[in-house]
Amino acid sequence: MTEARSTATRGGAIAERLALSALDYPTPARANRWDFMLGALTLVSLVVLALTGIVLTQYYNPAPLSAHDSLLYIISNSPAVSLLRDTHVWAASAALALVFAHLAAVFWRRGFRNPREGMWWSGVVLLILLFGLAFTGTALRADQEAVEALAHAAAGAKFAGAAGALLSADFTPSTPLLSRLYAFHVSTLPLALIALMALHLWLVRNLGVSAVGPERVRFTSHLRLISGAGFVLVAIVASAALIWPAALSAPGVVGFEVTKPSWPFLWVYAAENLFGMAGMLIAPAVLFGFLALVPITDRHDGRAAQITRVLGAVLFVLMIGAIIYAAIAPGQSHLGMDMGGV
Ligand code: HEM
Repeated sequence: MTEARSTATRGGAIAERLALSALDYPTPARANRWDFMLGALTLVSLVVLALTGIVLTQYYNPAPLSAHDSLLYIISNSPAVSLLRDTHVWAASAALALVFAHLAAVFWRRGFRNPREGMWWSGVVLLILLFGLAFTGTALRADQEAVEALAHAAAGAKFAGAAGALLSADFTPSTPLLSRLYAFHVSTLPLALIALMALHLWLVRNLGVSAVGPERVRFTSHLRLISGAGFVLVAIVASAALIWPAALSAPGVVGFEVTKPSWPFLWVYAAENLFGMAGMLIAPAVLFGFLALVPITDRHDGRAAQITRVLGAVLFVLMIGAIIYAAIAPGQSHLGMDMGGV
């Protein structure tokens, strides 16, 4: 009894010193449904990415001639770090799948309308940063898929003119492109992501979510649900990592096009099949251009809002269709390189 009381008092004292009562504010009961948890579950995947990534930085060598070897070393000599690498790769897939589900749910309930336009626009930039992290992460493997991803990016960078200079191997003779991409992957992009996420969550906290209905619950009950769902997510990601280890093909050889990108980039690959290299710029420009306009064109009920809704649904179906099509269609050469008999 005395022990129980002293534990409670200790818990209370820590909670008091950490000002945890600030989390005990009222929030709409409707926000305890799954479609309002997707943003937080994206955040859980990002935490897993950060924790596993910190360990990987101690084993990965970002020098072009050593990068692939350092990954082979992890896979062959260090089962625990290898499992963390597999978890990192699966958590990246989970983050991208969840952020798209979050975006679709927010779009469907029109959660971007006044006063939440800033949440939407900060979300659009977060999505761009997540794609940047996925791309630079792929390049770090220095395997065949990585070399081809870089060749595509370099060709796209030429199309983009000065804006693409950073992706060019000639940007500076002092530092190889792979080492510069590593710097983007472990510092520039994560720092930008953290800053943008702080803004996004600040707006969520202070403007509230768009859940309707008069019923209120404590935010701590929402946190408990998210923690439970977060544990399930981590268990799923870790199990996937145990069952299906992350791929690493042979060291990349320049001048060949024999692989397809991982699933988050397959819609761009499909656009390249249809429009050639220009598809690599057209598809992201259409997606992000549309996303940027949503809070402006769907401001009030009316014709523009209806068109936005229909266009959003069409784009969503097109993207899923393009990913499935690119996954099953035979590989194509987009850069006019050797396809190695594929
Ligand atoms: C790193 C990625 C992201 C994280 C961690 C994140 C996190 C969150 C969280 C925790 C919420 C509150 C609960 C919820 O509705 O799920 C939220 C709400 C919101 N998010 Fe995100 N989000 C991310 C990306 C995005 C993207 C890509 C968009 C859209 C382009 C977006 C737009 C919004 C909007 C408009 C709300 C308010 C929704 C409403 O009130 O109905 N977020 N986000």
